[in-house]
Amino acid sequence: MEQRLETKLGSLRLQSPLLTASGTSGSADELAGLGQRKAILDALGAFVTKGVTLAPRKGNPEPRIIETRAGILNSIGLQNKGVDRFLKEDLPKLRKYDRPIIVNISANTVEEYGALAGKVLDGDDGSVAGLEINVSCPNIKEGGVSFGIDPCAIEKIVKAVKAAVPRGRQVYIITKLTPNITDITVPAKAAIAAGTDALSMINTLRGVAIDIRAKKPYFANVAAGLSGPAVKPVGLCMVWDCFAKIPECRSQKVPIIGIGGISTWQDAVEYLLAGATAVQVGTAWFVYPDVFIEMKRGLVKYLEREKLTVSELTGKAHQ
Ligand SMILES: Cc1cc2nc3c(=O)[nH]c(=O)nc-3n(C[C@H](O)[C@H](O)[C@H](O)COP(=O)(O)O)c2cc1C
Repeated sequence: MEQRLETKLGSLRLQSPLLTASGTSGSADELAGLGQRKAILDALGAFVTKGVTLAPRKGNPEPRIIETRAGILNSIGLQNKGVDRFLKEDLPKLRKYDRPIIVNISANTVEEYGALAGKVLDGDDGSVAGLEINVSCPNIKEGGVSFGIDPCAIEKIVKAVKAAVPRGRQVYIITKLTPNITDITVPAKAAIAAGTDALSMINTLRGVAIDIRAKKPYFANVAAGLSGPAVKPVGLCMVWDCFAKIPECRSQKVPIIGIGGISTWQDAVEYLLAGATAVQVGTAWFVYPDVFIEMKRGLVKYLEREKLTVSELTGKAHQ
């Protein structure tokens, strides 16, 4: 029955289309503390790590998260221990979970992306199945404008990361797009031209909150990232557009991983119907640690009732 849940990202076979979204499930220790760990792992197709950078990062000053009416705003600032400690301390623990590991990488220059990808893949014992490139980072060399809105920069980053893959290694390269742009198909096509294996979308949307007592922006950096149910229609629209307008996405030569506000199995089905091959769940996981277990249960029942597989659902709403 659970075979209906299987899906494929290129050569990467996943037992389920449900993946963790980067930055919302830590890198290893956070999962270890959960009582229902085994059932959660059974529901997962792959584990996407928190964003890793070359050097350790302290992240932004507090406050870092506030609730909105239909989600959260976060300004974590990519706090992480850096790639060396990630490889030494977290990766060995992740390997024990026996799920494909996708490492999310962030950097501030094209060269740093290449160097970081090289470091992850040189030090990983072959256990990293994929890299997810977070392009929602400031381009330090070009005055801090986000790489994600610059198709030329995206092409260079994807090429630099691909060039860092050691000869003979199969590593699945996913480019994670930002929604803070008018036409998502522009960066998507740039990533495809540079040879990305898949696209994931969306990262958080820029948003602001004001503290009315202090009469000041709530976050030190003013703008933060909006996620959760409020962003679901935006994520769905971007998946829809890429599937409808980009032949490589429509043929699933370059599959789409849908992200944004997914909290229930019905949300996941909507993303699959819009054109996603798999989905990631982020903010919902903070609210209900059982979300993956419930989503898997609901999805299996739905697929059984509809006599369909996950692969057959992908893009079906376009037919
Ligand atoms: C607290 C927090 C931290 C995040 N950290 C990262 C990160 O390190 N790298 C990344 O690519 N995306 C990061 N994201 C974005 C999520 O992976 C996801 O794209 C976004 O939250 C939308 O999905 P959701 O609505 O299911 O949360 C973060 C999101 C949150 C809420």
